[in-house]
Amino acid sequence: MGYWTPVHDSHSPIQSFNMRTKIIAGNWKMNGDREDALSLATEIMGIVADEYMGESEIILFPPFVHIQGVARLVENTRIKVGAQDCSAHKQGAYTGEVAASMLKSVGANYVLIGHSERRSYFNESSADLSAKIHQALDAGLKVIYCVGETLAQRQSGDHFEIIQSQLSECLYHFSADLMCHVVIAYEPVWAIGTGATATTDQAQEMHSFIRKSISNHFGADVAETIRILYGGSCNENNAQSLFSMADIDGGLIGGASLKSRSFVNILKCS
Ligand code: PGA
Repeated sequence: MGYWTPVHDSHSPIQSFNMRTKIIAGNWKMNGDREDALSLATEIMGIVADEYMGESEIILFPPFVHIQGVARLVENTRIKVGAQDCSAHKQGAYTGEVAASMLKSVGANYVLIGHSERRSYFNESSADLSAKIHQALDAGLKVIYCVGETLAQRQSGDHFEIIQSQLSECLYHFSADLMCHVVIAYEPVWAIGTGATATTDQAQEMHSFIRKSISNHFGADVAETIRILYGGSCNENNAQSLFSMADIDGGLIGGASLKSRSFVNILKCS
């Protein structure tokens, strides 16, 4: 894989955290008709080509029906496309569902799994999420697996335990080899769409906890290479300080990804 760089090689004894290529991903959620999606992608593509010289990976997550159009538009550019969800089933009589292999066939490279809106509004269980991750990896998609605690869970001091169980229930039965296709997004539920961003210290503390947990389970090499994104009211004003933290490898951006200028300004902070 392009981003799967060895942690150790004979020339550089230890590669530090900053060797991980950052990711800036735009989660468009259920917004925009075809024309809106294509013009947003066109604008982003234009500004990126003119103004962005950095190395970060850029991924757009349009609604299902716009994936193919956006993927065609950004073909041969550095921008990648993903889906916001996929089915837990491979194929068959599941009316309304979209299989991971179908997403791959229309140009998606990535899929978001376990976004808190899917967990809470659609009651997606750990078993569902685990099955979706399995289908996605099987179809050759990379997964951005989202975890995050609610405000009540943080206030009661249960946040580390919650994140640990979201990781272990859905991810820890996969092999370490598959982890090069997985990115984690830490998105505290209380920060999503609320304007209440986690402080850089709160975010770094949880990212570091996640990386330690990954290290304990999969080993240090996987932990040092896996990307962990922050999501939740990330914007042009707070992106720089969040992305400068040792264990924050970029962002999953919701609201601010719907404006090309804000999205690229956030990208420039990475
Ligand atoms: P937000 O959403 O940036 O609007 O808070 C982030 C997300 O839900 O992925």
